[in-house]
Amino acid sequence: MADDGGADWAGYYAASAGREPRPLLLAACQELGAGQDRLAIDLGCGEGRTGRVLQSRGYQVAGVDAAPTMVRLATSHEVPEPAVLADAAALPFRDGAFGLVVAYMSLHDMDRMPEAVAEAARVLDHGGRLVLAIPHPVNSAGSFQARGADAPFTIAGSYVDPGPADWVMDRSGVRLTFHSEHRPLESYSRALEGAGLLIEAIREPRAPDGRWQRIPLSLQLRAVKP
Ligand SMILES: C[S@@+](CC[C@H](N)C(=O)[O-])C[C@H]1O[C@@H](n2cnc3c(N)ncnc32)[C@H](O)[C@@H]1O
Repeated sequence: MADDGGADWAGYYAASAGREPRPLLLAACQELGAGQDRLAIDLGCGEGRTGRVLQSRGYQVAGVDAAPTMVRLATSHEVPEPAVLADAAALPFRDGAFGLVVAYMSLHDMDRMPEAVAEAARVLDHGGRLVLAIPHPVNSAGSFQARGADAPFTIAGSYVDPGPADWVMDRSGVRLTFHSEHRPLESYSRALEGAGLLIEAIREPRAPDGRWQRIPLSLQLRAVKP
């Protein structure tokens, strides 16, 4: 979970405005077809940027976040996202009520990830999709040893064992520390399997240049509730 109290979230999000590396999310929206009857959850909504993308495509969005600061930022933004303070592992919604759950860069921050995935599956209607993005498990298992495009990438510990993965983000001088968990891909696959969701697509986007062309920063995945 990211630091909450006192963190300069507004500054962080202002500094990262305009970053939209969300191809699978946008593709999923296009493929599913957007309409006012489509209800979506933005799981771990943060200040609501993913929800705003969905809203602009005609979805009615309910944001969910466990951090009061995030819910406040989402609901008080100039384009507000309705959001509730709740744990993703205990969603305050009825079974089958939603057509789409988007967990964009949030499941790796959740202590009870399998329970959150199970809850996403519970609130999805049949044919509904879970779209998620996480730091790529190879990325979160190791680190580059230098900044150059050919820098060696080292996994000093274990890929297969879960473990803490802290990230320091420095965006235009605004620094935030995220306390996340590294999990191998199998952990996510097992959570989806346990929740009865079927993986439809996986994407490993490449950075346009530099060292992140060789190791994907994120893994994006779409699963369906049959
Ligand atoms: C890295 S932020 C991503 C925010 C947003 N999805 C985005 O793309 O900008 C992860 C978010 O997950 C939230 N979060 C962490 N654990 C949670 C939980 N158990 N239930 C709900 N939200 C949680 C954090 O408070 C944080 O806002």
